[in-house]
Amino acid sequence: MINYIKHHEWKVIEDGFDPALNRISESLFSIGNGRMGQRANFEETYSGDSLRGSYIAGVYYPDKTRVGWWKNGYPEYFAKIINSVNWIGIRVWVDEEELDLNKVSILRFYRELDMQKGLLSRQATVEFADGRQLTLRAERFVSIVTPEAGALRYTVKPLNFSGTITVVPYLDGDVENEDANYQEKFWKEIKQEADGNSASVLTETLKTGFRVGAAMSFRLLRNGHPLDFSPQPATRPLYAEASVTVPVKKGEELTLEKLAVVVTSLNFPKQELEAEMLKVLKQIESEGYEMLRREHSNRWAEKWETSDIRIEGDVAAQQGIRFNIFQLNQTYTGEDERLNIGPKGFTGEKYGGVTYWDTEAYCLPFFLGTAPSEVSRNLLLYRYKHLPKAIENAGKLGFTDGAALYPMVTINGEECHNEWEITFEEIHRNGAIAYAIWNYINYTGDYEYLLPFGFEVLLGISRFWSQRVNWSDEKGAFVILGVTGPNEYENNVDNNYHTNNLAVWTLRFTLDVIDYLKKEDPWLYQEVREKLKFNEITETQRWKEIISNIHLPFDKKRGIFLQQENFLNKELIPAEKIDPAQRPINQHWSWDRILRSCYIKQADTLQSLFWFEDDHSEESLRRHFDFYEPLTVHESSLSPCVHAILAAKIGYREKAYELYLRTARLDLDDYNNDTADGLHVTSMGGTWMAFVMGFGGMRVKKQRLIFDPFLPSHWKSWSFRINFRGAHLEVKKTPGTFTVRNHSEVEVAVTVWGKEAIIRDHEKTTFKI
Ligand code: BGC
Repeated sequence: MINYIKHHEWKVIEDGFDPALNRISESLFSIGNGRMGQRANFEETYSGDSLRGSYIAGVYYPDKTRVGWWKNGYPEYFAKIINSVNWIGIRVWVDEEELDLNKVSILRFYRELDMQKGLLSRQATVEFADGRQLTLRAERFVSIVTPEAGALRYTVKPLNFSGTITVVPYLDGDVENEDANYQEKFWKEIKQEADGNSASVLTETLKTGFRVGAAMSFRLLRNGHPLDFSPQPATRPLYAEASVTVPVKKGEELTLEKLAVVVTSLNFPKQELEAEMLKVLKQIESEGYEMLRREHSNRWAEKWETSDIRIEGDVAAQQGIRFNIFQLNQTYTGEDERLNIGPKGFTGEKYGGVTYWDTEAYCLPFFLGTAPSEVSRNLLLYRYKHLPKAIENAGKLGFTDGAALYPMVTINGEECHNEWEITFEEIHRNGAIAYAIWNYINYTGDYEYLLPFGFEVLLGISRFWSQRVNWSDEKGAFVILGVTGPNEYENNVDNNYHTNNLAVWTLRFTLDVIDYLKKEDPWLYQEVREKLKFNEITETQRWKEIISNIHLPFDKKRGIFLQQENFLNKELIPAEKIDPAQRPINQHWSWDRILRSCYIKQADTLQSLFWFEDDHSEESLRRHFDFYEPLTVHESSLSPCVHAILAAKIGYREKAYELYLRTARLDLDDYNNDTADGLHVTSMGGTWMAFVMGFGGMRVKKQRLIFDPFLPSHWKSWSFRINFRGAHLEVKKTPGTFTVRNHSEVEVAVTVWGKEAIIRDHEKTTFKI
């Protein structure tokens, strides 16, 4: 844990520069617009430690698998979203010396991410070895109005000398990944051009053939007035630049405004890519930096209007939640069902930028609550489109007859993960995809999604579970052997409660869906049944047998379900007894020691209790929480949020607050000592849930919004916005009261502290404890 980010309600602030923290800051100050994004790398050359990263959604390379020992069923490659063309670069020369923050003395340094406006900026005063001092200011954004556009403004000012400044704005497609299995390059040259004040680079990914076009143009200003200049263009493979040298007097400001466009063959046919790129460049040139910046910030204001959470009385918590909301909105905008949410978004290479169960389990609720329902629908359709691949994937492992196993990790539907204990065993992910369908329908009421999309996916997953269980004579029950639950700190276990529970829940849900479809749309249902060769009688008969006879390991003495068959054989020592110097244990202990220990990486049995809380009494929830949470080390970012929600539910308010803070500030305070790799973007959806479901106690049941809110003891108030079935609500908690204000035309049924009410259009109702 580290604490150098200044607390502020709307801004992330770093005051002073420590090169040792640079990678962390590069992650924290990342910007994106759903289409592309990048780490907070400096515009100018920096020879110190840095992870350069500019990423484009959906543009990936299939990096050939590298494992020590090949196992049948491993994928051929790991598809990763790769570092792509660097459009922010500017080299700066002061007289004959290049500006490099690693080689000058930094007298002052200030970096700021303004989350309200979506702007990243930086100011520094630096000194060269011979005493020449310079201030620089940089500001940039990737537009959320024109998602192909990025813009930056870079100013230098000699403080105690006059001389010549050379600025060299460039586009560099000759970039590499740190994470490359064979240290290969992933890009090939197509074309580069530089002419006057503009330049462009066309590149293409090897193997996958995604073509990317980047173009830039720029202007220069002296003390805010446009300057005439004649640039020197230059190109080399995958690279284009223009260089300008200008005499600048002491105290004068030289400003470079650089506008850039990045387009890909995902969105335009290859033959038209260049023309489209130039068209967008022309369009943004005619608008200019100021106008682009203004519309971008106005659009952010609109986004905040529907997704903000306000806290009065706790700046650290306020900054934390806004940071999470900001990053989620930067990563996914939901217009394109081919895109998804990588665990690190656009902020790092780890996890390859591709899709995990995180999306369905942790991110979907945020988009359900804050965006139009099409956004969540697109997240679901992403998986629907991958269904044939999931069936193929299950086929590779020996499953038949339409059984589907969704990949642990994917971008195009194919499994990319290659550790047997996860790839083959962490099958609870399949259940998470089924659960997301339920969650979406429960929240939106969009039952039409079930036919054919939802039903086809549910059938594939149910068929998988039906084949994955086996009958145990010994137990007289169905069992699921050799799995890894969400807790990756034990593998190849039998009868993981969460997996078994989720399997039978999916079967039950699919049966309910079938009943519903038979009633609502018998003709279409019949058609889909034939298409999928679904033998309703025999297949559902087996499902029912499994539902009635599944083995769920239970300890009578403690009254709790067991994480897995042998969990109680472990030496149960609370995590608080671990020497703090040895935490996180995954960075200090051997894997062998971790696997044999009782320590739980993230919610596992408690994940099931969170999803299926109504199957338990409050007493039962408490018993499970009291047993499992003390053994949990929360070393997955996905962990504290689920625990915070459960803690709130069972009345452990202090604990809920502590865990909330941990999830909300996980990256800002680098809790798990890994923010340098990138932000934990998918867990940010969990943070939102921890707030709305934890402090707000919000649930959706029987078409109603239920609230059971409370206020952490030292807060004055909190409020959040929520979309629900066409309505838009603002809810506010103050000591003793809870107010629901309806900002829309649509009336909403709510239950607050057990009391039912209808909130009519544009009305507000205040509830008192
Ligand atoms: C967690 C997984 C998660 C993955 C990506 C791992 O550390 O254990 O549950 O899917 O990170 O976020």
